[in-house]
Amino acid sequence: MQKSYFITFEGPEGSGKTTIIKMMAKYLKENNIDYVLTREPGGSLIAEQIRNIILNPNNLEISYETEALLYAASRAQHFSEVIKPALKENKVVLCDRFIDSSLAYQGVARKLGVEKVMELNRFAINDVLPDLTIFFDIDPVLGLARIKNSNFREINRLDLEKNDFHYQVYQGYKQIASMYENRFEIVDASQDINHVFNDVKDIIKNKLEDLNNE
Ligand code: TMP
Repeated sequence: MQKSYFITFEGPEGSGKTTIIKMMAKYLKENNIDYVLTREPGGSLIAEQIRNIILNPNNLEISYETEALLYAASRAQHFSEVIKPALKENKVVLCDRFIDSSLAYQGVARKLGVEKVMELNRFAINDVLPDLTIFFDIDPVLGLARIKNSNFREINRLDLEKNDFHYQVYQGYKQIASMYENRFEIVDASQDINHVFNDVKDIIKNKLEDLNNE
């Protein structure tokens, strides 16, 4: 019988993770693995409404504290409505961004502190952390250039931050990956898309095989 497995995908803007997650979902489907594909902020009707407030480029007055709380509120709703039930049904959950985005963006880049943001989020998600987190490692300026050259991706409020902010997010991710090295896997996201997909697929395939052999 299939076992539950919670996978999150993290990285700077334009790291290509959303495209790879879709390819990964197709792969799971072809292999008859039951999965749920979702994203943050958002992922449920109520959480998507919170997403619209957070990412609206007109909401420039949102304080850093409000921002952290809104991400956590969106996560709490999404977790209880989508992720928790899917794990209970022994599904694989593929989630585009999760708690580590809050640790890197709000904890490190906004300087609210990793510990404080962690505490807030542990409350939102009943202490359930991902089984596996794949970090898409790419120079943030390269990632931003990809977004600007793409017609498919709208510019959001956080994209408008200066390069320095995005470098701090990147450094934040590196710090968090070393804090939680047991669940983190790092993929070179500057490669072409097929190479990135193969790397991600191999990691997930091996982890799921190990899980089934337990
Ligand atoms: P995306 O859906 O295009 O990835 O945009 C979400 C934006 O929100 C992105 O700039 C990262 C940011 N973010 C945070 O700052 N904290 C969080 O907890 C999450 C989930 C996203």
